Amino acid sequence: MTAPVIIAPSILAADFARLGDEVTAIDEAGADWIHCDVMDGHFVPNISFGADIIKAIRPRTRKTFDVHLMIAPVDPYIAAFAEAGADIITVHAEAGPHLDRSLQAIRALGKQAGVALCPATSEVVLESVLDRVDLILAMTVNPGFGGQSFISSQLPKIARIRAMIGDRPIRLEVDGGINVETAAMVAEVGVDTIVAGSAVFRGGSLAGYRSNIAAIRESAISGMHV
Ligand code: DX5
Ligand code: ZN
Repeated sequence: MTAPVIIAPSILAADFARLGDEVTAIDEAGADWIHCDVMDGHFVPNISFGADIIKAIRPRTRKTFDVHLMIAPVDPYIAAFAEAGADIITVHAEAGPHLDRSLQAIRALGKQAGVALCPATSEVVLESVLDRVDLILAMTVNPGFGGQSFISSQLPKIARIRAMIGDRPIRLEVDGGINVETAAMVAEVGVDTIVAGSAVFRGGSLAGYRSNIAAIRESAISGMHV
């Protein structure tokens, strides 16, 4: 039985000077997954970290590494992230012309495959890859930075994606501007997996992380029951 709501704190919002300790802290604070935002300064206007950092923090937790590749091209790097310890590898539909091939490559490496959509990308691109994915990530900000405002125009699109999924075993994830308030809104339209960076890491203490994760989880569960 999978957890009804998965909370995946984004380490993009962590203290990079103490990244290993921060991973241990959010694990202890109740994170279900660890969301790793990889940015290349080309697909998105920011650079974060690469596979070596994923490898370095891997021993700090047994929780799922949910790796979000905001890079283009993506195919040449998939194996490196699989090798580094990623459990789920999510590629952007916009990162290149061969999405089906990228998703097959991820699964061929024994990892779960995810596809991410930027806010302006229609869910229609998912139609022919629904049987290639274990996760769909609907961005609720334009990718590249933490701490941005939630783009509420994504809510109807998220509801349409939930309908497309039907009874397939695919998790529906959102990422960007998620906090106690927006977590209920996205859960109401079918989201079951939530990335949150600044709303989790706010305050910088284990106790704060624990209460932030719990509050977001509670809000999402309340949204599911509307
Ligand atoms: C955007 C990043 C952010 C990050 C979450 O490219 O993917 O969305 O994970 O940032 P917050 O939760 O601070 O908006
Ligand atoms: Zn992300």
